[in-house]
Amino acid sequence: MTTPPDQPQTPPSNSANLPNLPNLPDEQPASRTAQPSYDSMGLGRTPGQRGAEILAGLRAEIMNTPESAALARLSGRIVARILRSLQSRNLAGINFIGARLYGMKELARRALPPGDQPATVVEVAAGFSPRSIEFAQAHSHVTVIEVDLPDVVEEKQKRLQRARMIEIPANLSWLSADLGVTPLAAVLEGRQVDVIVAEGLLAYFEPSESIRIARQFRDSLKPGGVFITDLPRRQGILDAQSQSGMRMFSRQAGSFLTIADGEEGAQQLFSEAGYVDVQVHYPSTLAETLNLATPVFDYEYLVSGRNPATEAPPLKRLPLRRPPPRPPRHQQQAAPHRRRTTKRRAATRPLIKRRRAEPGQRSSAHDCVQHITREVSLARNT
Ligand SMILES: C[S@@+](CC[C@H](N)C(=O)[O-])C[C@H]1O[C@@H](n2cnc3c(N)ncnc32)[C@H](O)[C@@H]1O
Repeated sequence: MTTPPDQPQTPPSNSANLPNLPNLPDEQPASRTAQPSYDSMGLGRTPGQRGAEILAGLRAEIMNTPESAALARLSGRIVARILRSLQSRNLAGINFIGARLYGMKELARRALPPGDQPATVVEVAAGFSPRSIEFAQAHSHVTVIEVDLPDVVEEKQKRLQRARMIEIPANLSWLSADLGVTPLAAVLEGRQVDVIVAEGLLAYFEPSESIRIARQFRDSLKPGGVFITDLPRRQGILDAQSQSGMRMFSRQAGSFLTIADGEEGAQQLFSEAGYVDVQVHYPSTLAETLNLATPVFDYEYLVSGRNPATEAPPLKRLPLRRPPPRPPRHQQQAAPHRRRTTKRRAATRPLIKRRRAEPGQRSSAHDCVQHITREVSLARNT
């Protein structure tokens, strides 16, 4: 199936370092998040791909790095621009993107074994995120492996290959699999690693599935290894319902199914999956610590948990700093909720007659423009 991730690699040159694209045989039906659906805006075959494309577009718009620019596509950038303008009164929502990306990178750094001991970090559902490239560049003694659906891995490699300015580190490699049906242990061929990072994955599975997947990840962690993920906060998601940009993102990327009811809910999910030393972080707090753009809207928690081990030292406990209390609703920046009017009802009616679309079918450029227009008009009327 795969090229073993720690096989000797050729020197870093974009094309030389990209050959290991091992696709697992796809015998089982695809999991729910890996199933194609109608691509109304030309962003990708599956909701996950569409989410990854918008996130890449947003990062390219707000972060001025060659990696984020190379990993974004025009359609993602266009949708990101619209989303950004819809969120213009809620900068904290946009700042969340950087806080989550670099907050999780920092948690992964803290979870590495001390000193320059060799270690392996796996980023699952990496999408078009630049984090693993940056992580591998910063920690040359760490083997970094990205895992995503085959289409996404292939497309990411193509984008990196085209970007001549970017040197792909020799300690970064790729594997592809549908993690909803294939256990990570099978993808890694039984190899155990130090850190597993999953951003934007578990939220799209039913809670019982999320627990099952998180438990399976534990099989691939060394004793004492750490799993880091994001989990939507119930309150954050409720607050976000008044944000048209967030609603537009969900229509493309899919709805959140696993949502943590408070810090206790996040702790409980990790405990049910068998983790210990569970720590719940707020992106806003990590953004302050890391000197990132603030304020940050805490849509989610960033959670880490350790695979139990007797010999592993306990995680260095950091004080959990709660974000300051939210101002009363009338002082918040988000647009006030307006009552549903006849005008809005008219706007929510589809502007274009929906043709029977094949799953994964990409709409024509004309349809894309109409869908984008509809999204903007929907947002304006809410
Ligand atoms: C919302 S995106 C997040 C991407 C990236 N982590 C980021 O933050 O930009 C979700 C990612 O999960 C991947 N994904 C969804 N379902 C998956 C599955 N069953 N197996 C593997 N990857 C999956 C998608 O391909 C996509 O890249």
